[in-house]
Amino acid sequence: MKLNKIRKLGMLIAVILCAASITLAVATIPNLFPFFDRSGAVATYSSAGSLDTSGPFFQSLGTNGRSCATCHVPANAMGLSAESAERVYQRTHGKDPLFSAVDGAVCPTAAPGHALDFSLLRQNGLIRIGLQVPENPQFTITAVDDPYGCALVTDPVTGVQTASIYRRPIPGTNLGFLSSVMWDGRETVAPLNSPATFSANLITDLKHQALDATLGHAQASTPPTDAQQTGMVNFELALNSAQLLSFKAGDLADDWAHGGPRFLSTVPFFPGINDAFGANGVTFDPNAFTLYSKWLDSGDPERRSIARGEEIFNTHQLTIQNVRGLPDMTGTCTTCHDTPNVGDHSLAVPLEIGTSRSANYETDPTIRAAVSELSMPKMPVFKIDCEQGPDAGEVTYTSDPGKALLTGMCTDVGRGKGLILRGLAARAPYFHNGAARDLRQVVNFYDQRFQMNLTDEEKEQLIAFLKAL
Ligand code: HEC
Ligand code: HEC
Repeated sequence: MKLNKIRKLGMLIAVILCAASITLAVATIPNLFPFFDRSGAVATYSSAGSLDTSGPFFQSLGTNGRSCATCHVPANAMGLSAESAERVYQRTHGKDPLFSAVDGAVCPTAAPGHALDFSLLRQNGLIRIGLQVPENPQFTITAVDDPYGCALVTDPVTGVQTASIYRRPIPGTNLGFLSSVMWDGRETVAPLNSPATFSANLITDLKHQALDATLGHAQASTPPTDAQQTGMVNFELALNSAQLLSFKAGDLADDWAHGGPRFLSTVPFFPGINDAFGANGVTFDPNAFTLYSKWLDSGDPERRSIARGEEIFNTHQLTIQNVRGLPDMTGTCTTCHDTPNVGDHSLAVPLEIGTSRSANYETDPTIRAAVSELSMPKMPVFKIDCEQGPDAGEVTYTSDPGKALLTGMCTDVGRGKGLILRGLAARAPYFHNGAARDLRQVVNFYDQRFQMNLTDEEKEQLIAFLKAL
């Protein structure tokens, strides 16, 4: 065996022994504690020194027994993998508070004579979000597929319609890099668009989010106190999570690489820091990821593959067309995932790349080919008929109207934020609706969607890179 492989193996064994010797019953999780995932281990680094699991983020502050950590799990990079959800279901026979009717089940009430159905949570890690259709929207919305019977429910008294949307828990970590809060941005109550107000507004937004999450997901009858909200937000904001180890390539911070959460905690950010259209006077650098550039000529083929994947992410040409929110253009993955070494959009630019379109109804051949690469969960499909505004006459079939459910505007149909790309290996499935079962499906989707013409080798390299984030 080559020397560097032996070194990597020794390091992995040391880590496993160390992990085994620490029991998780203690009230703190040490910084960089390795949680194993399918391609290595993920870890979280807190600027507070360790993760205090006795604070309000971990407390049941509502009526159904849930805490924030029910859905934002340290072992899953503060998200929730579908695999974990199913394991919890098996271990507790569905009695864990994760499986509460309110948003754990596909519909909050079961059909007469039937048990509650938790299939979307168990199979795809999806939480139901009931969103009201705004007053006087520019479109009419109807459900053309309604597999669970609660796609669109009209209140008999007020006439208000509520749509059932199913979304993945977005990780409660790396939050210092956000440009909007929630996939559709609905918790961005104070805008995250200016360096001067960023820190204060982010705290305002996250406190508001923590309040709504306690009242909603945890069904609290009294709101959390200001001190409890602050406690949750301080806890979250101190965290950075990323893949720490790779079974194939070893320590991701070895040999001058910058993988892992500790380096991530030193990465600078301000809104628009690397915007592709030069907001705030910045010059866009498409080489947004520089974690593994030193491995390009590593002697280890696994490390070289990760570095090549990073290069593809930064430089491979994409034909970007028919994306609501962007002009047609040629670009790279980093046109949208522009925040250096993090990967969300550094400005709040919600986009519709087509992840919620339905392969059965879609008429655009490129989008249809792309969504055909995904394992779309069984979800309602809405038909959105646009009647007013510049998109009048357009018809969209989608399982998630996105930002349009907040604004009522046709130009917002299907739009949501680009997600942070760290700690991916620990929290499959991917995209806000869990439509990509694994990172291979993500890459195959993009290969079709933006006509990348990737070779099999290039796909493997891109996947190796995404797994090392
Ligand atoms: C039942 C599961 C569940 C519980 C419990 C829960 N969340 Fe979430 N969380 C979600 C889902 C689902 C989303 C994404 C929703 C969306 O985008 O519309 C989310 C999103 C978030 C985000 C947004 C991250 C981003 O990048 O936009 C934060 C922050 C967050 N949750 C914090 C909390 C806090 C704090 C609590 C406890 C008060 C909590 N969550 C409880 C499921 C949950
Ligand atoms: C036109 C803008 C755009 C381009 C180009 C783009 N993305 Fe994305 N990306 C997004 C948006 C928007 C989302 C969120 C979509 C969703 O959740 O449905 C996303 C989500 C993702 C996710 C899922 C993250 C998660 O937590 O589930 C991955 C992985 C990803 N992109 C990788 C890539 C790769 C690799 C490329 C280049 C091959 C790329 N993206 C190119 C906009 C883009």
